[in-house]
Amino acid sequence: MGLWNRYALPRLIEFSMRQPPIMRQRGKVVPEASGRVLEIGVGSGLNLAFYDRARVEHVSGVEPSRELGLLACARARAAGLAFELIEAGAEDIPLDDASVDSVVMTYTLCTLPHVPESLAEMRRVLRPGGALHFVEHGAAPDPGVARWQRRVEPLWKRLAGGCHLTRNAPELLAGAGFAVERLESMYLPGPRIATWNTWGHARRQP
Ligand SMILES: C[S@@+](CC[C@H](N)C(=O)[O-])C[C@H]1O[C@@H](n2cnc3c(N)ncnc32)[C@H](O)[C@@H]1O
Repeated sequence: MGLWNRYALPRLIEFSMRQPPIMRQRGKVVPEASGRVLEIGVGSGLNLAFYDRARVEHVSGVEPSRELGLLACARARAAGLAFELIEAGAEDIPLDDASVDSVVMTYTLCTLPHVPESLAEMRRVLRPGGALHFVEHGAAPDPGVARWQRRVEPLWKRLAGGCHLTRNAPELLAGAGFAVERLESMYLPGPRIATWNTWGHARRQP
């Protein structure tokens, strides 16, 4: 792992992920999680303050970056949240089948290196009928913006730790055995290639 990925990228992720429009998006999905929660790519733990303590038993956070995971642990302590860091990738989650009630994924699907395997793992560990709560940026509906997303993505991926601009979260979830029950979308302020957001929840099909 180069110096960029090890030291600069975690700081860049932490900075970009705590911008006010993104923090407002967290508030639209994270409080809906309940019971035993698994967060995918918990990053520096910016969602942790948004969990509804009355509904959540504990949160496990999958995160392959140790630098970001340690920040998440500090945020969980500060928030007084029962939290366990799992240093792993979403493509191989060390949890039992049907062992969580909710999965939370915010701005992570864009970065996952193994999408089908990771979504299959989320489905496996989520109990039947459990919900996956998500907010993601991705493929824009406007053809002009989408064209620029495809042009810029190869360079963007290299600079932004593998982040893709063209993934379509609702379609990928639907193709992986989840029924998308709530779906909202809009552009956040900022460059349109990176700001088309979709959010809501998808239920694990039996
Ligand atoms: C843009 S950040 C978002 C972090 C956090 N979810 C948030 O909303 O602030 C993408 C995250 O995906 C994580 N990630 C990268 N590869 C992953 C993998 N294979 N499995 C799970 N998370 C991964 C990164 O380390 C990073 O924390």
